[in-house]
Amino acid sequence: EAERAELVERIKRLLRERDAVLVAHYYVDDSLQRLADETGGCVADSLEMARFGKDHPASTLVVAGVRFMGETAKILSPEKRVLMPTLEAECSLDLGCPADEFAKFRAQHPDHTVVVYSNTSVDVKAQADYVVTSSIAVPLVEHLRDQGKKILWAPDKHLGDYIRRTTGADMVLWDGSCVVHDEFRSWALEDLRSRHPDAAVLVHPESPREVIHQADVVGSTSQLIAAVKDRDEPEFIVATDKGIFYKMREAAPDKTLIEAPTGGESATCTSCAHCPWMAMNDLVSLANTLEDTAEPATNKIFIDEDARLKALTATQRMLDFAA
Ligand code: 13P
Ligand code: SF4
Repeated sequence: EAERAELVERIKRLLRERDAVLVAHYYVDDSLQRLADETGGCVADSLEMARFGKDHPASTLVVAGVRFMGETAKILSPEKRVLMPTLEAECSLDLGCPADEFAKFRAQHPDHTVVVYSNTSVDVKAQADYVVTSSIAVPLVEHLRDQGKKILWAPDKHLGDYIRRTTGADMVLWDGSCVVHDEFRSWALEDLRSRHPDAAVLVHPESPREVIHQADVVGSTSQLIAAVKDRDEPEFIVATDKGIFYKMREAAPDKTLIEAPTGGESATCTSCAHCPWMAMNDLVSLANTLEDTAEPATNKIFIDEDARLKALTATQRMLDFAA
């Protein structure tokens, strides 16, 4: 415990010395979320992380999350140094949508407006008309639908299916999924609900359709935390990564929070409602990143300028729409 306190103090000192601010996602370890709060950084969903990093005056952003979040920070702030505790923190959606394969899919639907989820590489974003996060996907697609646009969506098929059902837009979907949310089981959720009939069900839209069908609230991580705070129910069943419980408990300490059931018994479940890549972020890897003064630093985000400019256009459209 004393060692841990010393590590935290060292990180705080390094953040000051390096003119760095910590931008953390709700799924990373509690210790990193706490540190971000204590040091004037932020803990947020993907859209808010992007905004915070762009607007903050620090010359270095340290992004605790997965790689696409660090890349988004760099797309929006090329003049800043963007570091991550590890560059190995990937995302199954990003990995499941290689840029060259995506180019072929796009070529099959040349008359479609290309909308991609933020959970993609810079080279996929560079091929898009719009980037969206889960918090803004539905209103943005409604807006495009009203203009009569047909939409090509990638990579998350569950989120795409949810957007299509909600907006009625004409959409073709890439076949990708999140290893964490894909594990929620609708039959097990039904069973749990029958034992907690008064609980509200909160679901992230990367979850399967039958799980979303049972939701009282479908939303981004920030929207789900707001629901715990704002709604009257004393009990909530939560279908998203369990890292979110840290902020949910803080937002509503007197409410009961229950994890939605996953296919924990299946051989494929190695994550069980905790993203294995988010879990790679910890205090030690953060301290090592901040201590590394080599140039280029090992965990520094670098993006090709041509791809960045193309990805920026699609990403900036999201920020302008959300404003
Ligand atoms: P949010 O934008 O809702 O934070 O989601 C990001 C993510 O990766 C969910 O799995
Ligand atoms: Fe990607 Fe899923 Fe992890 Fe989010 S939880 S970063 S979508 S693998």
